[in-house]
Amino acid sequence: MGDLETIQTGALVVGGGLAGERTAIECARRGVQTTILSLVPPRRSHSCAAQGGMQASLANSVMGSGDGPDVHFADTVKGADWGCEQNVVRRFVDRAPRAVRQLAAWGVPWNRVEAGSRTLPNGTVIEEPPEKAGLIAARNFGGTAKWRTCFTADGTGHTALYATDSQVLRLGVTVHERVEVLALVHDGTRCHGAIVRSLRDGRLRAYVAGATVIATGGYGRVYGISTNAIINEGTGMAVAMDTGVTPLGNMEAVQFHPTATVPVNILMTEGCRGDGGYLLDRNLHRFMTDYEPAKKELASRDVVSRRMTQHIRAGFGADSAYGPHLWLDIRHLGAKHLETNLREVTEIARNFIGVDPVTQLVPVRPAQHYSMGGIRTDIDGRAYGLKGLYAAGEAACWDMHGFNRLGGNSLAETVVMGEVVGETVAGDLGADGGAVPMNLFREAGRRTQDRMDALVGGRDGKEDVYAIRTAMEQALTEHVGIFRNGPALQKAVDTLQELGNRAERIGLRSTGAGANPELASALRLPGMLRIATTIAYGALQRTESRGSHYREDYPKRDDAKWLVRTLAHWKAGQRLPSLSYEPVTITELPPGDRGYGEASAGAKPAAGGGARA
Ligand code: FUM
Repeated sequence: MGDLETIQTGALVVGGGLAGERTAIECARRGVQTTILSLVPPRRSHSCAAQGGMQASLANSVMGSGDGPDVHFADTVKGADWGCEQNVVRRFVDRAPRAVRQLAAWGVPWNRVEAGSRTLPNGTVIEEPPEKAGLIAARNFGGTAKWRTCFTADGTGHTALYATDSQVLRLGVTVHERVEVLALVHDGTRCHGAIVRSLRDGRLRAYVAGATVIATGGYGRVYGISTNAIINEGTGMAVAMDTGVTPLGNMEAVQFHPTATVPVNILMTEGCRGDGGYLLDRNLHRFMTDYEPAKKELASRDVVSRRMTQHIRAGFGADSAYGPHLWLDIRHLGAKHLETNLREVTEIARNFIGVDPVTQLVPVRPAQHYSMGGIRTDIDGRAYGLKGLYAAGEAACWDMHGFNRLGGNSLAETVVMGEVVGETVAGDLGADGGAVPMNLFREAGRRTQDRMDALVGGRDGKEDVYAIRTAMEQALTEHVGIFRNGPALQKAVDTLQELGNRAERIGLRSTGAGANPELASALRLPGMLRIATTIAYGALQRTESRGSHYREDYPKRDDAKWLVRTLAHWKAGQRLPSLSYEPVTITELPPGDRGYGEASAGAKPAAGGGARA
């Protein structure tokens, strides 16, 4: 095809993290020729940074006894503030235990139950019976009725990704790394593959595929303060939305993790609090007991992040050169525990902020962490709008998280949904052949090349890609954060639209067409701006509070009007997305009280007195 190199494959999996690799494994196991594309070597994917664990109701630990898929289901739906697909949640909770055991078979060294008695930090004595010794253990996590989060110390993503990648290697799946998808190739009804740029030499390639799966993770880096890796720029979501026919779902549902280190924003796992850590204010007062007497630091993430922000706003944050923050106290867990079960965060605190958690408090504040929204798919992972297009993991919105994801549910989701999507792809490929319109690839390749040439060769543009990007990050962080309101959201939308206009006049200072970070940023920025605008605009339109989406001007959940999912389409030439809404699927648990949060617990700022935890 001219000088556009063309590669044929059965399944094209875009993204080499856990969701992408698990999808690829299932495709390959079912005989589908599969190619993974990855920005980085797969073992450097952001899944590797996942710390605390994977939820699965194995009920091995004594604190998990009585657990099962039904309890996991109820926790997940309440966590989601009922904004999720209950049939998807059911499928997930039923499959998660098997997925965790399968990872054990692939070599994940899960922490195991140790027989005997031990005293928890809150004074409770627990006794693990000898017959449970050696079974996969679980730790406590937020918003759960039982201890259900299976873990390998605090490096669960690392062990899971390495084990999964070993299966990818064993199965001989093709992996092309250091490449980036710039456009999907489609005819308005079917996706046929993608136009891909090598990050090494800048050359374009066409990948012609029977099935294209987007598993590129989240977009965290559109925010200025995020726990996400620098590769999390939402490219998969952006190229899907750029088709004009595939919508993104619930993009206003953004998760903020309570405990990111200040100032570097690296995660301190929820496992710190699950294992018994406290949050303290400037007076060393354990304030969460005032706001959430039942769940304390282990209410769901949206609630804890909100309470922390509320408390800082009330003047109880500790001062620092980087703004006010709160403290995470895990000293009482002891050096042995910190250097084994929490060793990653202990090293992170020591190496990145010079704080030793064995003897010192760790400065923390909430930071953007996860996207509940993503490419809208059905329960089998098929994207809306285009046959042959699928999505998995954080890039997808099959919608088991609704408006707040429980910690530990996304890591488990990557492998559960990956398997589901692989099954779907293998089934669909058998049923759906047809000629590939190669002219579409030529046209898409030419358009993409023109775009690159205009950036590299065109000296007319005066706008600086990094300045626009920083302004976008600030607009989201300042106006589309944990507490939202109409005027601030409108300001964000206006600012982002103006930045979108400026992005059309970018001029590069560098001329290299190959490994050129400025060019890569300039190519990604318009998509990032569309994602950012979709988040802000969706949040502006949703005049209620649900889960992580908290509107100060509409503080109540409004099931009569808003028990719906937002769908955002963006056609070429539009300045804003077109929003529509679809009902969420309620199959088992009608909307009710979550058991924590503003509706259930005291909302007043605590006195912040001197009492120590
Ligand atoms: O806190 C954590 O370890 C993060 C877990 C998650 O986002 O699921």
